[in-house]
This record gives sequence, C-alpha cells and structure tokens, in this order.
Amino acid sequence: MKFDITQRLAIDGGAPAVQTPIPARKRHGEAEKRHLAEVIDSEMLFFYLGTKVRELERRFAALYGKKHCIACSSGTAAVHIAVASLQLPPGCEVITSSITDMGTLTGILYQGLIPVFADVEPDTLNLDPESVRAALTPRTAAIVAVHHAGLAADLDALFEIGRENGIPVIEDCAQAYGCEYAGVLVGQRAPSSTFSLNHFKHITAGSGGMVLTGDDRLRYIASLFVDKCYQREEGIRNPFFLAPNYQMTEMQGAVALAQLEQLAEFIDRRWRAGTRLSAFLAEVDGITLQRIRTGSKHSYFMFLFKLNLERFGCPAEEFAGALRSEGVNAKAHLITGGRPVYLYDLFQKRLAFPGSNYPFVSRDTGVDRDYPRGLCPVAENAFSRWITLELLENYTDQNVDEIGFAIAKVAYHFSSRAGSIRQPVTRGATKS
Ligand SMILES: Cc1ncc(COP(=O)(O)O)c(C=O)c1O
Repeated sequence: MKFDITQRLAIDGGAPAVQTPIPARKRHGEAEKRHLAEVIDSEMLFFYLGTKVRELERRFAALYGKKHCIACSSGTAAVHIAVASLQLPPGCEVITSSITDMGTLTGILYQGLIPVFADVEPDTLNLDPESVRAALTPRTAAIVAVHHAGLAADLDALFEIGRENGIPVIEDCAQAYGCEYAGVLVGQRAPSSTFSLNHFKHITAGSGGMVLTGDDRLRYIASLFVDKCYQREEGIRNPFFLAPNYQMTEMQGAVALAQLEQLAEFIDRRWRAGTRLSAFLAEVDGITLQRIRTGSKHSYFMFLFKLNLERFGCPAEEFAGALRSEGVNAKAHLITGGRPVYLYDLFQKRLAFPGSNYPFVSRDTGVDRDYPRGLCPVAENAFSRWITLELLENYTDQNVDEIGFAIAKVAYHFSSRAGSIRQPVTRGATKS
C-alpha cells in the first residue's frame, strides 16, 4: 500500500489519513446469553452455591497451569486479595511502579501498608529493577510488578531481587492477558498474580477480577478474604481477620466464562495489529516503540510510542492532537491522569483516610513517608513524550495501515516544521 506522507495535515485542512471505518466492536454474543440464561434459570446467583464462577476459576487456572484461581469483584479487589493473603503487619512497605492504575495501590493502603514507588525504565515504562533495588529498606515486605500496557516487566531481575531479599513478588497482570516473558505467560511465575475483567481489558464482565496462585495456604486466605472471612468450607462462621466482601456474582462469572472462550482470539488479533503497526513505524524517524525483550510477547492492551521531542519541536499532547485530527484515537500518555500516581492528591496530601495521615504517618508503626516531586524522574518525564493509541481486536489491516500512515504523515510535517534535517522515511510510504 502506498501512502503519500507529504499530503496536507488534517489540522491544516487536508484530508484525514484515516478513511476506512473501524468495524463495530462485538465482544458479547450467544455464548454470554446462554451462560447468563442458565444462571437465571438456576435461581442461583450466589457464587458459593452456583457453578459459573467455579467453572471460570477452574478454566482460568488451567489456562495458566496454576493450581488455584480465586475469582472476585474487580482487578482492584484481586490485588487487595493477593496483598492481604501475605498477612503483612501494617507499616510494611510494598514497592511498586510509579506508572500504574490506582487499583494496584488501593489494597496496599487498606492493609495499612506503605506503597513505595520505583521509577520505570525509559524504554519500556515498566519497573526499573535498579530503582527497585534502591527503594529497598528493612521494612520492604513485597514487590508488586505491573506489566504495563501489555508488555512484560523485567521478571528475571525482579524475582532475583525478591529471592536475594526474601520478599515475594506479586504480578499485576490486569493489562497483560496473553503477554509473555521469556516464552512464559506473565502471571505464571509469581506466588500470586492478579487480573482484571473491567470494561477496558482484553476480556470483560463489566467488572471482575481473578487471582492465580499455586500455594494452598495463599488460596485459603484469599478465599476467606473474598468472603468476609466466613469459613464456608469448614461450615464455621467465626471471622479471625478483617476481610471485605469481594465476591464475584454468578452473572459476572457467566459472562467471564463466555469471554474466556474468545480470549485466545482477542489476544492474537491484538498481537497481529500491534506487530503490524510496529513494523510500519519502525522506519519512522523520531518515533521509538516500547522495547520488547527477546522471548517476550507484547499483548497490546495499549499501543505506546515515544516521541523525539527535539526532532518534532512539540510536546506529546500537540502531536496527539494532530493525530486525532487525522482520525486516530491517540492521547498523550494519560492512563494515570498525566502524572505518576504518587503525584495524586491522595499521596501528596497523605490523606487515605479522613482526618488521618495513616498509613503514611503513624506513631504505631513509626512510619513517616512522603512522595516529593522528582521522586521518579523517568516516570515524570514520560508524560510529555509518550503517546498511547487504541488498537483493539476489531481493527483490520487497513485500519492499522491508515493509523501508521497518519503517524508517519504527522511525523513528517512536524519534523519539517521544526527544521529537523533528516526527513522521515516509511516503508510503503511515498513522499510525493
Ligand atoms: C495495572 C492495573 N491494576 C489494577 C487495575 C484495577 O482493575 P479494576 O478496574 O478491575 O479494579 C487496573 C485497571 O485498570 C490496572 O490497569
């Protein structure tokens, strides 16, 4: 396919690069209806006495080769369950990424634990193991590794740090279904790993989550933590620790079960779209893609690329604005609201609970933790440089190529305007 990247930009009145409509997204259908109807007909919507949640747990565990899966109400709940299952005393520190969803942090805080933010690698936006090492203190009790955007974090290095220091590593795989590290699915190695079924994820039940573990004790504590610490398996009701109600309903289970049937196809389609766009963009000067380690497989929850700001003479938001005019659903990297999570008011004002600075400041635990600007410079700088694109399973090759064309076109014009010397060249693209 030939594209002329010298064509006038849409922001200057030219025709948008994207001309072909994206086929309607159709994620839910007959399988969902069938499973849901079975739930309704059964008159049993409660997971403990129903069949759908149990079946989902069995199938998801089998898919990942893990002994146990605990289904729950959200990805936030899943991380909370995984962290709480470690039974750490308040005041312990948990190192995690400075670029992630609030759902990674909520459960840490509710357990009275202290999130400690490590910086990200400039070429992947995943946890930088050196920064994790530098963040270790005698209070460090766990690491939560996030596989950002569907790209695996450096698991060898992170598990090595965990081993050396006797600290468990939890994998937050909310964005990373089907993502691989060294040929192994992320979520398989950790003592517990967590997944989300929210609307935006590869598969969805509206909301929902899952925890995988191979450990019988973690499974037991996790199953109590989902359920107010009611010991249903033993027929006892005598809670011995504080636990929320994070149950998944049978309706969620029914939809998630049907979604699981499509997961492999969704991952494959996204991988093919992401790989195709990556090949297209590899030859566009001034644009750098996330670095994918040898043996890793990106599952493209989002498609990210970094701008050479000097070449384009503009911040990411302006470049993204030009792309939107070309018909591309692009944003400057805003998944965390345009800043590392520790710059949220919650951390800046140290106000997790009304009228208290707990757990950030506590006489009981001796903690006094703050989160100054400049804490994670790579993460702080990322937001002016990285663009995120929506690239979903319903995008055709033609849709993907037009997105690539739009990016190449905007890159060409912005670098020309900025007086950058070399002109970008793209495979399959012509300059006149
Ligand atoms: C990395 C990560 N962890 C946790 C969550 C929380 O998941 P949920 O929205 O299902 O609570 C999300 C959701 O966006 C996420 O991206």
